Amino acid sequence: MKGTLATLLFVFSLFSCEQKQVPPIKGVRDTDETYTPGLGDMMLKMQTRHAKLWFSGINENWELADFQLHEMEEVIEDIQKYKGEEEEIKLLTMILAPLDSVDAAVDAKDLERFKSSYENLTTTCNSCHVASKHPYNVVKVPDGPMFSNQDFSPVSK
Ligand code: HEC
Repeated sequence: MKGTLATLLFVFSLFSCEQKQVPPIKGVRDTDETYTPGLGDMMLKMQTRHAKLWFSGINENWELADFQLHEMEEVIEDIQKYKGEEEEIKLLTMILAPLDSVDAAVDAKDLERFKSSYENLTTTCNSCHVASKHPYNVVKVPDGPMFSNQDFSPVSK
């Protein structure tokens, strides 16, 4: 019995020694720093929502348009949460009023209002790109579906 315990302790001490000698795995970041997405990544999400919002709206799929708007608002909240301290992000609030107008058009299920408010939203995206010194990032009203693997027409009930 005693021998077994000694063997176990010996094996354990070997094991714990070995643990300490394991070199850090290359490519794994120091976990003291929590991962936060970059602004560029979050803008790619904005671009996706912006495109999906358009195809939902022009297909008069108001339920889906409402969903996309909600997702876009979440991206905006994340940008404010993670990047709010950065000077250029203070400009982000300019998007809120145009977004509200699109929201109102979606609620009213008004296609013409949707199109015009969407154009205004897109202009505001670009105004912020200019104001934040990224004028070369130009977004526009999509002219072809970016996602051919999604059906934007309303689901028949
Ligand atoms: C704060 C004002 C601001 C607003 C409002 C804004 N953007 Fe941006 N956008 C930026 C900044 C700053 C960058 C550059 C990000 C970086 O440094 O990587 C950017 C980059 C982008 C890019 C380039 C991403 C890439 O890597 O290719 C796209 C696309 C984009 N924005 C889409 C949009 C869309 C769509 C909207 C409106 C629905 C919008 N943005 C509204 C500030 C803004």
